[in-house]
Amino acid sequence: MTGDPGPVDPGRVGPGARLLVTGGAGFIGSELVRQLLARRDGTRVTVLDKLTYAGNRANLAAVEADPEQAARFAFVQGDIADAAVAAPLVAEADAVVNVAAETHVDRSILDPEAFLRTGVIGVHVLLEAVRAEADRAARGERAHAPRYLQVSTDEVYGEVAEGRSVETDPLAPRSPYAAAKAAGELLVHAYHVTFGLDVVITRGSNTYGPHQHPEKLIPLFTTNALAGEPLPMYGDGMQVRDWLHVSDHAAGIDFVLRHGAAGEAYNIAGGTELPNREVIARLLAATGRDWSLVRTVPDRPGHDRRYAMDGAKLAALGWTPATSFEVGLPATVAWYREHADWVASAKSGDWDAYYARQYGDRLAAGRAVDGTA
Ligand code: NAD
Ligand code: DAU
Repeated sequence: MTGDPGPVDPGRVGPGARLLVTGGAGFIGSELVRQLLARRDGTRVTVLDKLTYAGNRANLAAVEADPEQAARFAFVQGDIADAAVAAPLVAEADAVVNVAAETHVDRSILDPEAFLRTGVIGVHVLLEAVRAEADRAARGERAHAPRYLQVSTDEVYGEVAEGRSVETDPLAPRSPYAAAKAAGELLVHAYHVTFGLDVVITRGSNTYGPHQHPEKLIPLFTTNALAGEPLPMYGDGMQVRDWLHVSDHAAGIDFVLRHGAAGEAYNIAGGTELPNREVIARLLAATGRDWSLVRTVPDRPGHDRRYAMDGAKLAALGWTPATSFEVGLPATVAWYREHADWVASAKSGDWDAYYARQYGDRLAAGRAVDGTA
């Protein structure tokens, strides 16, 4: 099937739509599922999630405990790279939102292969399933082809010394994680051009909030600070990230799903660019700790110095983020403080082995940091 998929029609993504959300037990995916079902507009959601170390069924407990939402929700444990599992679920969907990925840059430096399997082969399997459904639609065997949304990242642009990335900038990824995400995007674009699939891509900036696995900067430093454990700051801590609250990231994805033009990519920029040192200072204030906990440790190889995106394209379509970092960060710290069981569960399994491998030598070589410098 080739050709223009046409405008987005409500039958595909409006009230009552059947959505397949992959990676829906993770940090951003579970927030998206909670928002979609909380609209109570008849939308039905099936989550396909492999439940890797980062996936947690408890992230979906709120929807499963609500009878009206639970009736519109289904959970399937499985791998997006497994066509036997993924294709029948795509066949029942009006749209596919692919949130699933291996997501931690440091783990992609330790073990890149899983990133390629999910980020490239997994995306390919989903696109082939969508393509088969588009062919069925062209034959009149279903009402319309599914829309496909690929959740991507600002990391595909690579580090940005000056200015802000716009959607037409070249992709220049610099870590195995970012390279896998860029490869996934290129496949999605190719399936739009070659097979006429109705695809959209979102590129979100650094996201924070409740339910984020504690391997990432903000939840790691929050939970370590609350426990009085060292905070391993990479290098000089002057790397810059643009912070986006998870509720905004999920809302931006939902907006692009419903309003994005086929074949287009959209930046979802947080609009809060801060050096890591400033984020750490605010986390210390929110947890009641001081700089004596912070250690400067050997840097991440290939560490991108700065990410920054221009959110004007999505703003022109009618969407901007709503939660400020001043409100979102203390609320996030409070959530981790109040969810010790969730944190303990996330820091179980392979956590100690991962932590020793990632931070053992680094912390041994670490030095105190002068927080006033
Ligand atoms: P996460 O690590 O919290 O969750 C990923 C989820 O995907 C987990 O539930 C995991 O079990 C599932 N998963 C992994 N491999 C799978 C597979 N092969 N099949 C099915 N499920 C699989 O990730 P997150 O931080 O919520 O990120 C979600 C998406 O957003 C990713 O695509 C990521 O690249 C992108 N993103 C994240 C951020 C961020 O700051 N967290 C920013 C921009 C973009
Ligand atoms: O920019 C979007 C990306 O943000 C997403 O695509 C990724 O999935 C997500 O993991 C995140 O990537 P980062 O590498 O920017 O996030 P992380 O939380 O790992 O690191 C944020 C910054 O903090 C970065 O400059 C590295 C630094 N850092 C991180 C950790 C875990 C430290 O100094 N010490 C640490 O222990």
